[in-house]
Amino acid sequence: MADEITLSVIKADIGGYVGHSAIHPALIERAQEQLDIAQRRGTIMDFHVAYCGDDLQLIMTHQAGVDSSAIHGLAWQVFESCTEVARDLKLYGAGQDLLADAFSGNVRGMGPGVAEMAFRERTSEPVLIFMADKTAAGAWNMPLYRMFADPFNTAGLVISPTLHEGFRFEVHDVKGHKRITFDAPEEIYDLLVFIGATGRYAIKNVYSKSTGEIGAASSTERLSLIAGKYVGKDDPVCIVRSQGIFPAVGEVLEPFTMPHIVEGWMRGSHYGPLMPVSLRDAHPSRFDGPPRVVCLGFQLADGRLIGPRDMFDDPGFDEARHLCNVVSDHLRRHGPFEPHRLPADEMEYTTLPEVMRKLEGRWETL
Ligand code: 13P
Ligand code: 13P
Ligand code: MG
Ligand code: MG
Repeated sequence: MADEITLSVIKADIGGYVGHSAIHPALIERAQEQLDIAQRRGTIMDFHVAYCGDDLQLIMTHQAGVDSSAIHGLAWQVFESCTEVARDLKLYGAGQDLLADAFSGNVRGMGPGVAEMAFRERTSEPVLIFMADKTAAGAWNMPLYRMFADPFNTAGLVISPTLHEGFRFEVHDVKGHKRITFDAPEEIYDLLVFIGATGRYAIKNVYSKSTGEIGAASSTERLSLIAGKYVGKDDPVCIVRSQGIFPAVGEVLEPFTMPHIVEGWMRGSHYGPLMPVSLRDAHPSRFDGPPRVVCLGFQLADGRLIGPRDMFDDPGFDEARHLCNVVSDHLRRHGPFEPHRLPADEMEYTTLPEVMRKLEGRWETL
């Protein structure tokens, strides 16, 4: 344990600037100040404060293991401190994702999203951290499947002896609070039965079958299930280790050349394509979207985060971005109609039921 390093990515929306479109720089500054103090005290080894849209991500390395109350408590305290700044600036939805009044040991179930993993740092340890805005847990299912199970995406599954054995997927039923594991490639049809239903089943972790080592971890918190009502979208994060026994960096990024359709966008109530962007463009404006994903790459060096590299800052993703705009135009022209708007059961977690209730008395039995 002592020589294991934990990489934690803990995120929250604690106020948007302007509306839900971006993070105000003062929040990033406040988070950096706080984490700087924690680093000097030795609570964390290194950190990087990132953003995607109106979500703030605390990327931290430490040796306290996953689900550490010290690390979760630190993140909660940073978010509370940033919320004070957000309240002062009257940013939109200040403290939006802090659903509990006080911290109680672990931020899971309290609003923030968490992806974390503990591992022994390899001779060279490239990690990729994905952060999305205007979408929900489950958005990583298709890309994670492609990275770790699809030979049309990941050449290494066929070519490389270190990947050829395949990977193990841990899938969570976020409504039933259960989990199940599947081995790929043997059980991909069974795996797809569940992960194709992204609103209910989410890939939590992926492990190498040959060594048992963790390769990917995602946040699966569903805000609406925690709060019982619409309070903004989950805007998930995901960590992927790369190279060696894991897919190469380019194989990890390749799934995002196909902008898959995710739930989120305006008022968390619409389907739209997930656009891979650089940090420079991680500010969803059009109809509060379309949903965005950024990817920051780091090399770990004895717990130090060497980076970040802004991985989607590459004209290689221009066509995906163009296609997103074409698909967005087409979906937007559906206006309030499905399948642009979420299906009725998903709309239960929005403000629509309030409107429906007003009309209840006007229905006549047929
Ligand atoms: P308001 O009704 O507060 O404008 O909120 C809409 C919205 O952005 C939902 O998060
Ligand atoms: P966020 O989940 O990013 O806060 O967005 C909420 C929203 O309602 C956007 O229209
Ligand atoms: Mg918001
Ligand atoms: Mg957001």
